[in-house]
Amino acid sequence: MRLLPVVVTVSLTVAIAYYVYIPLPDGIHEPWKLMLLDAGFRTTLHLATLKDWLGCDHYITSIRQSTEGFEGVMKGFFSSESSGGVMPGVKVSDITFAGVPVRVYEPPAGGEGHLRRGVMFFHGGGWALGSTKKGTYDTINRMVSDELNTVVVSVEYRLYPEVYFPEPYLDCLAAAKHFLSPEVLARYAIDPERVAVSGDSAGGNLAAAVAQEVSNDDSMSVKFSVQALIYPVLQALDFNTPSYLQNQNIPILHRPLMVRFWLQYLSADLSLQSQFLVNNHSSLHQSAITPELRARLDWSVLLLPKYKKNNNKPLIVENESRGFVKEVPGLLDVRAAPLLAESEVLAKGPRAYILTCEYDVLRDDGLMYARRLQDAGVTVTSDHYEDGFHGCFSFIQWPLEFDVGKRALRGYINWLQNNL
Ligand SMILES: *[C@@H]1O[C@H](CO)[C@@H](O)[C@H](O)[C@H]1NC(C)=O
Ligand SMILES: *[C@@H]1O[C@H](CO)[C@@H](O)[C@H](O)[C@H]1NC(C)=O
Repeated sequence: MRLLPVVVTVSLTVAIAYYVYIPLPDGIHEPWKLMLLDAGFRTTLHLATLKDWLGCDHYITSIRQSTEGFEGVMKGFFSSESSGGVMPGVKVSDITFAGVPVRVYEPPAGGEGHLRRGVMFFHGGGWALGSTKKGTYDTINRMVSDELNTVVVSVEYRLYPEVYFPEPYLDCLAAAKHFLSPEVLARYAIDPERVAVSGDSAGGNLAAAVAQEVSNDDSMSVKFSVQALIYPVLQALDFNTPSYLQNQNIPILHRPLMVRFWLQYLSADLSLQSQFLVNNHSSLHQSAITPELRARLDWSVLLLPKYKKNNNKPLIVENESRGFVKEVPGLLDVRAAPLLAESEVLAKGPRAYILTCEYDVLRDDGLMYARRLQDAGVTVTSDHYEDGFHGCFSFIQWPLEFDVGKRALRGYINWLQNNL
C-alpha cells in the first residue's frame, strides 16, 4: 500500500521531466532556466489552443490573460510599478500622441536650457502581445530614461486581433511624426539632432519601417538620428534561412509560431502556415517576386560563411502556382517587410545598431539587414550574442533573469550612450 504514493511521485516526476526537458545546444548557458521558461510558455500556448477550440476565448486573448496573470503574481513580489521601482526620479505619464496612446518617461535632470536626448520605443510581441506598461518594457524604458537622461516615449500601438497590418505600423508612424515635430521636441526640451527610434522583435520591425518612412519623407524637417533594432523581424518570404532552420525548436520563438504571427499580422488565413513553412508562398511562380526582390533577401550572398554552415542555397520552390502574393499582398509591402526596401531608401536611413542572437530564428533577418544597410552606405554596429536566444533582452528580472539578457540590455544602453 505504501508503494502507491512512491509510484505516483516517481511517475509524476518522470512525466514532468519529460515535458520540461528539451535538447538545447551547448552554446546556451542556463539551459534549465530556459527549459522551464519554455515549458511554461508551451503550456500557455496549449491552453490557449484548447480554449480557442472550445470557443471560450480567442487564442491571443487567453495568451494575454495567462502572461498578465503571471506578471500579476510577480508584481505581488516586487511591486515595481506601484513603488516607482528603482528609478524614483523618472516621471511617467500616460498620454496620447496624435491620438495614439503613449507612455512618456521624463528623466529627473535636464529641462530649462539643457537639451536632452529622445527615444521612441516600440515593444515586441508578434504584433499581438505585449504592452508599454507590462512585462519588463516598463522597467527597461525607465532605466534608459534614467541612465541616459533621455525622454523615452513608449508607444501603445494597437494589436492583432483588434487590428491588422497596416494599422499597427500607421499608429507607430503617427506617434513618430508627432514626436519629431519641433513643438513637441521643444516642449520636452529634446535636442532634435539626438532622437532615436527603437524596438525589439516585432517592435524592431516597426522601428525599421518607421525609420525608412521618416528618412525618406521630405516634408519632415526633423529625422531620427539613430535606429536601434533588437532582434528585428524583417521579412516573410523565406522561412528557411539558416537561422530559421537551425533554431526552429529553440525557445521561446519556435519557427511555426513566428510564421503564425506573420499570418495574423498580414490578415492571411492561418491554414496557410504549412505552405509558408516550406516556402511555397515565395515559389518561382510568384512573378511579383522579381529577381531583384529575391536578391534583397538572398542570404547565400548576404550572410558571412560562418552563418551558413552546411547550408548554401535558399529554398525556392518551383512548381507551386497558387497566387499567394495576390492573396497576401502585405508579403511584398516594405512597410511590413523592411528588408525588401531598395538600397536608395535604405541609404537615407539613420545610423543603425542591430542586435542579433545566435539562437534565434530571426538572426539572419537582422544580419541581412545590417549588411544591406552597410552596403547602402549607412554606418552600422552589429552586436551579435553568441549565447543569445530570442527574447533574452526582456528577461532581466528575477525569476526570469538570464545573464545574456542583462549583457544584451547593457550593450544596447552603452551603444545609445555613445552614439545618440
Ligand atoms: C516539382 O518539380 C520538381 C522538378 O522540377 C519535381 O521533382 C517535383 O516532383 C514537382 N513537385 C510537384 C508536387 O509537382
Ligand atoms: C507545396 O507545394 C507543392 C507543389 O504544389 C505541394 O505539392 C505541397 O503539398 C505544398 N506543401 C504544403 C505543405 O502544402
